[in-house]
Amino acid sequence: MLPDVVPPFVWHTFDVRDRLPSNWESQIRATTDAHAEQHDLVPMSVTSREDVAIASVAVLTVDGTAAATALPWLNELYAGAFRELAEHVFGEPVAVAANPVYGINLNVQRGAEMRYECHIDSNPIGGLLYATTHAPGSGGELVVANRGDVRGVEEIELDATRIHPVAGHLVFFDARRHSHYVAPLADPSGQRIVAAMNFYTAGCPETARPADLSSHLFSNPSDVKETQNA
Ligand SMILES: [Fe+2]
Repeated sequence: MLPDVVPPFVWHTFDVRDRLPSNWESQIRATTDAHAEQHDLVPMSVTSREDVAIASVAVLTVDGTAAATALPWLNELYAGAFRELAEHVFGEPVAVAANPVYGINLNVQRGAEMRYECHIDSNPIGGLLYATTHAPGSGGELVVANRGDVRGVEEIELDATRIHPVAGHLVFFDARRHSHYVAPLADPSGQRIVAAMNFYTAGCPETARPADLSSHLFSNPSDVKETQNA
């Protein structure tokens, strides 16, 4: 059970560049160029925290099956060194997703119009490997509500923690009780890429993942459904 009082939002950052292949950024960029699919998120999932006035949020995503196939070294790190770092941070055994569709997702923002949906996480540990750098003032930061589970960009922004992406940095957090979204980029020709990884614990296992979440997040729900049932 989660405590009633919302704890402060805490995150941990590791510089993992020495663990990555020399051309890792170009490999990730090539993967998103080849496989990213645009999808209009309709914020009806149990984890959505958009304002009621928002009908949809356009996102670009590479699902975990495509990401793991194109980037086997990333899949190895996810199951190995990154998972072990998460165990060190959270002090308990940590598992990766058995279903590859949502194990590792590559999330892409292009231009100054896109942002990521306001939501809470269903998994107890999120890991983000940033593939692009966005300095303060240039947009693209993860914005997390310090007030906890609130709804919409305005409420999140009232009191927020901002995590500015640095390429090659791996961030861990538990955002089940803190609404968050990704701010738009300031540069209309800019691109933001992050590998988002789902980890699980005994107290919050993969089997507790909301049934509607994969069809909400990905552009091809029929494929997801087949994979989930496999
Ligand atoms: Fe999230």
